[in-house]
Amino acid sequence: MPQQPAPPVLPVPDEVGRLYDRYTDLGSATLGENLHFGYWDTPDSPAPLEEATDRLTDLMTDRLHIGPGSRVLDLGCGTGRPAVRIAGRTGADVTGISISRKQVDRATALAAEHDLASRVRFERADAMELPFAGDSFDAVIALESIIHMPDRAHVLREAVRVLRPGGRLVLTDFFERAPIPESGRPAVERYLREFMMTMVQAEDYPPLLRQAGLWFEELTDISEPTLRRTFVELSARISGSAQQLGSDYGGELVEQFNPADMTDVSEFGHLLVVAVRPPNR
Ligand SMILES: C[S@@+](CC[C@H](N)C(=O)[O-])C[C@H]1O[C@@H](n2cnc3c(N)ncnc32)[C@H](O)[C@@H]1O
Repeated sequence: MPQQPAPPVLPVPDEVGRLYDRYTDLGSATLGENLHFGYWDTPDSPAPLEEATDRLTDLMTDRLHIGPGSRVLDLGCGTGRPAVRIAGRTGADVTGISISRKQVDRATALAAEHDLASRVRFERADAMELPFAGDSFDAVIALESIIHMPDRAHVLREAVRVLRPGGRLVLTDFFERAPIPESGRPAVERYLREFMMTMVQAEDYPPLLRQAGLWFEELTDISEPTLRRTFVELSARISGSAQQLGSDYGGELVEQFNPADMTDVSEFGHLLVVAVRPPNR
């Protein structure tokens, strides 16, 4: 009899915060200052990982429809590079939140280095309970962060609450493109467990958005231009630096998870979601 997949363990925000406090240095040493997947327009694109991760930020930013003076919330901001890039490219004011104190400190320093401290600010906060008044933002971006949150419906309702009518939400999430075969399950389950993440089914999104009070605009499978190549590059970088990584610096995580194990699980997917808070009439 085929084994049933293990039920997902729901992430606990404070534990996710401690995970990022602990592994942010490892993340920066391997992925760079963008803690998300790269996007390569063509399979043979020569763009290095750093350029490809900025490319994904840009692709999402372009869907926010923002400009100078727009107020943007970066939900799960990492070490701040996406927020700094969004502010630099568009002239928007960006507020980033992360559940990791260490990331917030890093991100604050990065904004200052770019002379953007007056327009880009960061604070430690939980996306499940946003410390902002209703209608405070023109746009919300959540770049590979909802994967760590215990209740997507709740996060979406919080995003809608802080968005002004007509405001836009752009996010990425992990989903099951097709049933994960038994051969790929151990790698996927280990990946999700070690990084405190869950994934969804693509068909979950339209009702999730509708129930949160959002108009659904776009659902795009971005697995092909993002996942495999990022896993390949990460694997090379991690094994290159594993020797230097002591246990305080993430060495044990490297032993537990090898991104190369994910490269051939083509059923594991990456989703781009765009939605709008309906305008007042
Ligand atoms: C994979 S990182 C992505 C970081 C950033 N968006 C980027 O692309 O560089 C996930 C981020 O989500 C944040 N996060 C996870 N759960 C959170 C929560 N409940 N509230 C706020 N931030 C959270 C983490 O602290 C981390 O910054």
